[in-house]
Amino acid sequence: MKILRVVVIGSGTMGSGIAAQVANAGLHVDLLDITKDISTKACERIKNSRPPLLMEENNLNKIVPGSIEDDMEKLKDADWVVEAVVERIDIKKTIYSKIDSLRKPGALVSSNTSSIPLKILTQDMSDEMKKVFCITHFFNPVRYMRLLELVIGPQNDKEKIKELVNFGDKILGKTVVVCKDSPGFLGNRVGVYAMQVAMTEAFNLGLSVEEADAVFGRPLGIPKTGVFGLYDLIGIDLMADVLKSFIKELPSGDPFHEVGRELPIIKKLIKDGYTGRKGKGGFFRINKSSGKKILESLNYKDYTYKESKKIALELPDLMDVKKVLERNDVYSQYAWSIIKKTILYASNLVPDVTDNFNDIDDAMKCGFNWSKGPFEILNEIGIETFIYKLNKDDKIPSFIKQIIKQKKSLFKANQGSLQYFHPKDLYVSMQRSKGVISLSDIKKTTLPLYTNESASIWEIQAKSRFICVEFHTKANALDGLTNDCLLKAYDLCNDKYDGIVIANEGMQFSAGVNLNYFYEKAVNKKFNDIDIFLNNFQQSLYQLQHAKFPVVSCPSGLAIGGGYEVVSQTSFVAAHSNSVLGLVESLVGLIPAGGGCKEMLRRWSVHPDTNNDPELLSLKVFNLIGYATTSDSPIKAKSQKFLGNKDIMVMSRDRLIEEADNIIFTNKDNYNQLKSASFSLPGPTVMTAMLDILNELKEKKVIGKHGIEVGKKLGYMLSGGETNSSTKLTEKNLYDLEREIFIDLIKQKPTQERIRYTLDTGKPLFN
Ligand code: NAI
Repeated sequence: MKILRVVVIGSGTMGSGIAAQVANAGLHVDLLDITKDISTKACERIKNSRPPLLMEENNLNKIVPGSIEDDMEKLKDADWVVEAVVERIDIKKTIYSKIDSLRKPGALVSSNTSSIPLKILTQDMSDEMKKVFCITHFFNPVRYMRLLELVIGPQNDKEKIKELVNFGDKILGKTVVVCKDSPGFLGNRVGVYAMQVAMTEAFNLGLSVEEADAVFGRPLGIPKTGVFGLYDLIGIDLMADVLKSFIKELPSGDPFHEVGRELPIIKKLIKDGYTGRKGKGGFFRINKSSGKKILESLNYKDYTYKESKKIALELPDLMDVKKVLERNDVYSQYAWSIIKKTILYASNLVPDVTDNFNDIDDAMKCGFNWSKGPFEILNEIGIETFIYKLNKDDKIPSFIKQIIKQKKSLFKANQGSLQYFHPKDLYVSMQRSKGVISLSDIKKTTLPLYTNESASIWEIQAKSRFICVEFHTKANALDGLTNDCLLKAYDLCNDKYDGIVIANEGMQFSAGVNLNYFYEKAVNKKFNDIDIFLNNFQQSLYQLQHAKFPVVSCPSGLAIGGGYEVVSQTSFVAAHSNSVLGLVESLVGLIPAGGGCKEMLRRWSVHPDTNNDPELLSLKVFNLIGYATTSDSPIKAKSQKFLGNKDIMVMSRDRLIEEADNIIFTNKDNYNQLKSASFSLPGPTVMTAMLDILNELKEKKVIGKHGIEVGKKLGYMLSGGETNSSTKLTEKNLYDLEREIFIDLIKQKPTQERIRYTLDTGKPLFN
């Protein structure tokens, strides 16, 4: 049975998130709550959500609000009914009996519960319904969090569950981890434990909340919210409820009890209304009393707040566990204690909670956005070093003892494919869903064809034989070395491979060219170096765009500025459904100069809206780049021409490289090399219209004095400079003009001030 119609019961945070993602997948969904009024309001919330739960506004039409009193008949047509009401067993069970009396034979039913065991939920269920009932545990926000834990039991009909696994993976785009029925499943069991260790150890060592989050953050491959920021984000009261449920469910010997008890500080914060971002604040708060928004942090020793300062602990920018552990100070002590305890805890779950330790890694990567799971971290440290660093009283889990006794490692390569150690004393092949090509698996079994500090090239043999360029800098910012890698890939691919894929597994595809590089060069007046850098960047992208083989880019997360310029100059794009694309250079007082201006002109020049009118063309692109427009889904990106007609959207992050392989396979034998474009641009005649726009924006205080200057330069670029519409400009002419204007702008103080401000605060400067 194909899942085509879905009913979601409960339209709160999770129910509305699930409904939105089902609608994003193009399916009809009925969203029911106690009253239609509640579910209608939920639809409003979905519409206004930020970041948006919907990939395009029209998807809202696929969600039909209703009430469980008046619309239960809808259940008769549903192929999958998902319950996401409040965490109360009695309420959930009443709903299940209604579902059972109405559902069509074979329809799947699931609960989104985060803490009620499957065996309790199914206690009074009919045997027929037990076969098709399981827990589908999504994470919040549903569109953006990749993990879907599917909790099943022996009573389930395996074939029916397979249908749901497939649906979650291919249609909803989630990484599905099938779990046993045990408290907290896998993600929360390990993730919440790690958070509690991070919090209690910070208190034990007397670290400030900033210090703790700076260590238990990016240097360990963990999102920068660390532990205290994450507590505020989730809600301190919600976390307290989660802990209570773990304490109730877990056996008394479980180490969770050592760190999961409610602390006096948490009690006090909740009592005073400091429940995190949704309340008055928490470990951090925004103080607006001075008329400005000041970020403050809590001194948990005396319950006072002070202005939060960026602290420089000289920790690595990128995940580098070994480097953090090498430091002989309180921060390495803190990091080691969290890593050690988390690895020991996770290892103790094998084999009782899961036979496959890599499922825990996946759960942490997709449910908590860790760059590596605990076992991948253990693999990186090395089991021997890990054991050596333990204290005498640390109990080594039997799973780790088993590996040591067998003189085995966690992972091993077998004829190019990845295997992992199984508690039954054997190696089993890494089970990925059919078709999935995992770069992190490939990286564990092979050496790169080429690598430098910023990027690497991997050889992949799937349907086609191709090479994959992976960026691996902070936020995958581009620099001279990423460029060297693109050039190298072109040389390697020529004649030897079917094509190139540009993809990575970072949170961002690329947040643009490294602004630090530009800033340093600019303040030291090394403008020639900037020109050489840009020229190389343009040339390598030109080469890829006009190669005689297909080049596919796979954006996910941010692909903005230079990151988007890479994407825009590949022959095909397989874009993840949550990718953000666009040209944002104007925010830092610059213009795109890696071919971004040229590319947008090329794309819009063949669009009916610009009607072969060079002035309309220039103005259209002027508005798009001038406003630093970005699109937050591939669907919107197509309407803005950030993506072209043959580019595709991929729901699952795990399936990007697979789709890129399909594209190369289909195109490799009859690929038509892209010809160089020529451009008819209006020249100075359009500048008056552009100046009118800029003056109006200045009057409305949308832009300041420097905004006018940047706008003028951008206008000059997009009108083609000193040209007229009967002159044909080449791609090279436009590349040259981009560089000329970029250098002109970066020489100016206000642009340098904008760059400095953005580097320091992450925000744009109004000047
Ligand atoms: P919520 O409080 O935001 O929404 C619950 C919704 O259920 C409300 O709209 C309420 O009106 C509705 N409801 C209550 N009784 C009902 C009834 N008899 N019939 C129909 N609707 C009824 O709760 P939230 O956060 O969405 O949680 C829902 C479920 O998802 C819970 O089981 C929770 O444990 C689980 N969960 C929550 C996560 C989160 O981050 N909030 C994450 C993962 C799971």
